[in-house]
Amino acid sequence: MSEIVQDYIDDYIRGLIPPDSPEMEDFRRNAEKEEVPIIHREVQKHIEMLIGSNKIQSILEVGTAVGFSSSVFARAMGPAGQVDTIERNLNMVAQADENITALGLKNQISIMIGDAQEQLEELTKTYDMIFLDGAKGHYIHLLDHCLRCLKPGGLLVSDNVLYKGMIASDQLVIRRKITIVKRMRKYLEAISNHSQLVTSILPLGDGLAISWKKDE
Ligand SMILES: C[S@@+](CC[C@H](N)C(=O)[O-])C[C@H]1O[C@@H](n2cnc3c(N)ncnc32)[C@H](O)[C@@H]1O
Repeated sequence: MSEIVQDYIDDYIRGLIPPDSPEMEDFRRNAEKEEVPIIHREVQKHIEMLIGSNKIQSILEVGTAVGFSSSVFARAMGPAGQVDTIERNLNMVAQADENITALGLKNQISIMIGDAQEQLEELTKTYDMIFLDGAKGHYIHLLDHCLRCLKPGGLLVSDNVLYKGMIASDQLVIRRKITIVKRMRKYLEAISNHSQLVTSILPLGDGLAISWKKDE
């Protein structure tokens, strides 16, 4: 049970999503078998829609894992689209590199190895979209850098923002997750009230926040 919406709603929405290409279905199956936490199918579909409808051509991702979502993004943007993706776990980096190469996406995806905060501090590029999917307690610390690296009119997309329902209900909070929950609540308050952002929070997957950076 997702704790975000009732299972029958999740199942129904997922049932409407047509299968992906055989190689991406294999990729999803293998990641799920290894219990790598990749984007939910309905979140994938929502972001593909955002990429297409906003003509996104450059994406910065925090949290590569095995390279599943970065491959989804690269394919959704088409051959001219570029993804820079940050990962600190070297075992994940090696697997992502292998998967991205096998899919023929190496010229579209660049893995930046290291801690997100340190990588973002150095970054001078700007992007059409930033996807936050790293450690959930860190989003709040990355916000200023994300705003600096996001083009006016760009989208900041943050995954798992309802964190198994714990963000919205104290009754669901597990003791050892209290710090993450407090930080995520702070983050959601910050992006919801930020003067440069218009934010919508959706009960999709584990909770997805979409923030549009207003045009200057
Ligand atoms: C949920 S997984 C990413 C899944 C991936 N976006 C996908 O959907 O295919 C989170 C990843 O973020 C990485 N991560 C967490 N905190 C990080 C940080 N501060 N800097 C860099 N990588 C981080 C973890 O090692 C993990 O591989």
